[in-house]
Amino acid sequence: MAENGKCICIVILVVVGGIAALIIGLVASSLKKLASDEIGIKYDTIQKDLSSNTEREGLHSGPPGFEFIIFPSVYKSMEFDSLKCLNKDGVKIILDVTYQYKVRSANLREVIMDFRDYDGYKKVLKYAGEAALHESCSHFNTSQFQAERSTFQDDVRNRVTTRYESFKADITDLQVSNIARPSEYESAIRSKERAREDIQVALNERPRLLTEAETLKREAETTAEIIKDKAESDARILMNKANSEAEAIITQYQKEAEAYKKILDVSGLGFTIEGFISYLGVRVIADAQNPVYIGLESPAKTKY
Ligand SMILES: *[C@@H]1O[C@H](CO)[C@@H](O)[C@H](O)[C@H]1NC(C)=O
Repeated sequence: MAENGKCICIVILVVVGGIAALIIGLVASSLKKLASDEIGIKYDTIQKDLSSNTEREGLHSGPPGFEFIIFPSVYKSMEFDSLKCLNKDGVKIILDVTYQYKVRSANLREVIMDFRDYDGYKKVLKYAGEAALHESCSHFNTSQFQAERSTFQDDVRNRVTTRYESFKADITDLQVSNIARPSEYESAIRSKERAREDIQVALNERPRLLTEAETLKREAETTAEIIKDKAESDARILMNKANSEAEAIITQYQKEAEAYKKILDVSGLGFTIEGFISYLGVRVIADAQNPVYIGLESPAKTKY
C-alpha cells in the first residue's frame, strides 16, 4: 500500500513538473521584446495570421509561438557610390548620393504584405532610388551639371520622394556629394579651354601684328619708290649722255665732210680725186701713233 502511495506521488510530481514546464514554455513563447529603434507586427506562425497593429519598443505578449516582423523605427542610410548614369547629352556622369529613409509606421502592415520583411523592402527601395537617380540624370545636360548642382539635388530629392511615396517611405538629408564626368571628357574640356585662351591671345596680338606688317609694307613701298626713281633718273642721264655723244659724232663728221668738200671744190683747193686720196694717205700716216710700215707705192706724185 505504501509502495502504491509512493508511486502515485511520483506520477503526480512528474505531471505537475511537466505542466509547469509547459506553462513556462508557453509563457516564454508568448512574450517577445522590441528594441528602442524597432517597430514590428505580430505574426502568428501557427495560424499564419498577421496582426493589424504596429507595436513599438517593449515586451509584448501574443499567441504562443508568434514572431515579430521587425522594421527599423529610425532613419536608415541609403548610399549610392559612383553610380554611373547618362545625362541629357548622352555623356556619362558618375554620382555619389546618400539619403536617409524610414518606413511609415502607420503603413507597416501594408508594406509587410507587399514586401514580406525588411530585407525585401530595402532591396526594392534601393532599386527605386537608383531609378529615380537615372531619371534625374537624364533631365540635365552637361553644362547644367556644372552650373546648377543645387537644382539637380532638388530634382533628385523630388523624384526619390515621389517614388518612395508609393512604398510608404519618407526620406530626409539627401546629399549629392559628388558629380564627376569621365576623365577623358574632363581632359577634352580642358584642352578646349586652352584653345579658347590661345585664340584670345592671338586676337589680342592681332592689332599689333597688323600694325607691324603695315609698317613693313609701307617701308618696302617707300624703298621700291626710291629705287624706281633712281633708276629712272639714271636712265635719263644715260640717255642724255648718249644723245649728246651721238650729236657730237654727227657734227664731227659733218665738219669733216665740209672740209673735204672744200678741198675738192673748185672754189676751194680744187684737188683731183687722186690728189685727194694721196692727201688722205698722208693724213692717215701722219695721224698714226705707231710706226706704219706700208708696202704701197706712195700715192703722192711730185707732179700732176
Ligand atoms: C542646357 O540646358 C539649358 C537649360 O535648358 C540650356 O539653356 C542650354 O542651352 C543647354 N546647353 C546645351 C549645351 O545644350
